[in-house]
Amino acid sequence: MTTPRHPATPPRLRHFYDKLRSPGYGGDYNPEQWGPEVHVEDAQLMKQAGVNLVSLGIFAWAQCEPAPGAYDFDWLDGHMDRLAATGVCVTLATMTASPPPWMAVEHPETLPVMADGTVLYPGARQHWCPSSPVYREHAVRFVERLAERYADHPALALWHIGNEFGCHESRHCHCAVSTEAFRGWLRARYGTVDALNDAWSTDFWSQRYTGFDQIFTPRTAPSFRNPTQQLDYQRFSSDELLACYRAERDALDRITPHIPVTTNFVPVAKTLDLFAWAEHLDVISYDSYPDPHDAQSFQHTAFGFDVMRGLRGGQPWLLMEQAPSAVNWRRRNGRKPRGRMRLDSWQAVAHGADSVLFFQWRASRGGAEKFHSAMVPHGGPDHPLHREVAALGEELAAHPDLLGSVPERADVALLLDWPNWWAVELDAHPADIAFLDAAHAHHRPFHDAAVATDVVPVTGDFSPYKILVVPHLYAVSEADAQRVKDYVRAGGTLVMSYFSGITDEHDRVHLGGYPGPFRDLLGLTVDEFDPRPNGTWAEEIRLEGAEAVETFDSGAPSVTRHAYGDGVAWYLATRPGPQDFRRLVDRVCEESGVHPVLPDLLPGAYARTRVTADGSRIHIVLDEGERGVTVRRD
Ligand code: GAL
Repeated sequence: MTTPRHPATPPRLRHFYDKLRSPGYGGDYNPEQWGPEVHVEDAQLMKQAGVNLVSLGIFAWAQCEPAPGAYDFDWLDGHMDRLAATGVCVTLATMTASPPPWMAVEHPETLPVMADGTVLYPGARQHWCPSSPVYREHAVRFVERLAERYADHPALALWHIGNEFGCHESRHCHCAVSTEAFRGWLRARYGTVDALNDAWSTDFWSQRYTGFDQIFTPRTAPSFRNPTQQLDYQRFSSDELLACYRAERDALDRITPHIPVTTNFVPVAKTLDLFAWAEHLDVISYDSYPDPHDAQSFQHTAFGFDVMRGLRGGQPWLLMEQAPSAVNWRRRNGRKPRGRMRLDSWQAVAHGADSVLFFQWRASRGGAEKFHSAMVPHGGPDHPLHREVAALGEELAAHPDLLGSVPERADVALLLDWPNWWAVELDAHPADIAFLDAAHAHHRPFHDAAVATDVVPVTGDFSPYKILVVPHLYAVSEADAQRVKDYVRAGGTLVMSYFSGITDEHDRVHLGGYPGPFRDLLGLTVDEFDPRPNGTWAEEIRLEGAEAVETFDSGAPSVTRHAYGDGVAWYLATRPGPQDFRRLVDRVCEESGVHPVLPDLLPGAYARTRVTADGSRIHIVLDEGERGVTVRRD
């Protein structure tokens, strides 16, 4: 049986939980788009729908600072007061995701520039350069005014910094300011230009630098750009966005040290190294937008939720946004069938969410998101979707002890490392590997077997897990590789897939035969990669102690097993099809003593367990079919 873990809850998060009292329910609230009669109706409807938490003012900077240094918070005071009187807590946005239009006119250097030199202009949102000191100064000054104004407001429960950092094209900037910032970042990382030359392998193609001032961001170039330059630029971009976040968080910590801080992450996105970000949030927040037309989305969503829970070692997290029904930004925007919103919501709670929040409370009348579904649709409160929303609010409120309950730890961990993700998807490789697809494919057989999975970083503690799944750990330092080996030596079971152990953290090949530091662990050498015209990956393997468990048509090994220390290391030289993968996973689980979360699940269902403060266990059973959601208590 698995044991719950008790991740440390940051003390100021307790203040948030004390205010909420039951799982958070509500959504993005944009009252600036409406007049007074609507505001009054909003309050009544929120009360009726069991709303206890809204995210306020995400895109309201232009309303609050209509001219540089001229602040207008009076309108916002009214909303904060009304929400407090209605018993609704506020996640107050710092509003800095989208600067007012005047900033681009007064400070055009704050606009982001693409790799090909294209400038991104205002008129949409998030049109700012992450390295711009001017943007950061304006943002921090604004946040200070906001925090001073609402520090002691009874509605204020949580800060929401920016919005979905890195979600739009402005995630990477190539302007002159960013170029200088990149040079500074490289100086700090390498100290000398010779160290950089060594790490970047610049003796190749006459790229050797004699000064940091010769280095550019990886702009549009005639051929393949230096891979380590690209990799470091990804690291830099994630760090620059984090620096923007931290500048605001530091201001908030100074003025409102009692209020916890979060920001909402985009569905498992490549841009940000979320394990590096996680320590700077009191609670992880996530926006989940499964495509109702995608048959895989239920499992992919489960994986995303596992990632969010893993970011802070199993701590519950907040579902900050989801759509009640359709979104507006796909080419074809499927509605959710009735009942699906409930299933999606409980799926999040099962995987550790302490809130079920939506984008957005009331459907906009104008603007680019007017066809996005909302808790109050254009048709008003009599709409069937709103009735469904109200019923879900009531249902969640009936389980107050779910709030803050500990998600039970899984026996299986899947390893995710953002720098590896960036590196494995670089160009000029034997074949393209789409890492997120790979992670989903490795997660799926466990999901289908109703076996719970956690997600861990490469620097994480693997020891509590019976099985460690490692998809394509292509770029890995000697030290991190050693930790994987130590885990197996101590009795763990490893499932590692092809194109692992190939390069170090600077994308330089581990010499002496593939897969470098994992050869003795896996008991084999990969002599050549052999990607096939049909899209499958294959490898020519020489066994050096491992046994072949499966073979290619040629009879050469495709899946191997090797006893190492007290543990076992499996290697997949190709991606098995779904059925073969499932068969393999069933065998590995059986050998390792790993079982489904509940013994009596019907086919197609899976469960996750949360443990409440008084030690009782709540099992949430999820089924995409007719049976939907069942909540069981021991
Ligand atoms: C999110 C974003 C929201 C809204 C929503 C629509 O990515 O944070 O502001 O745009 O998408 O689905």
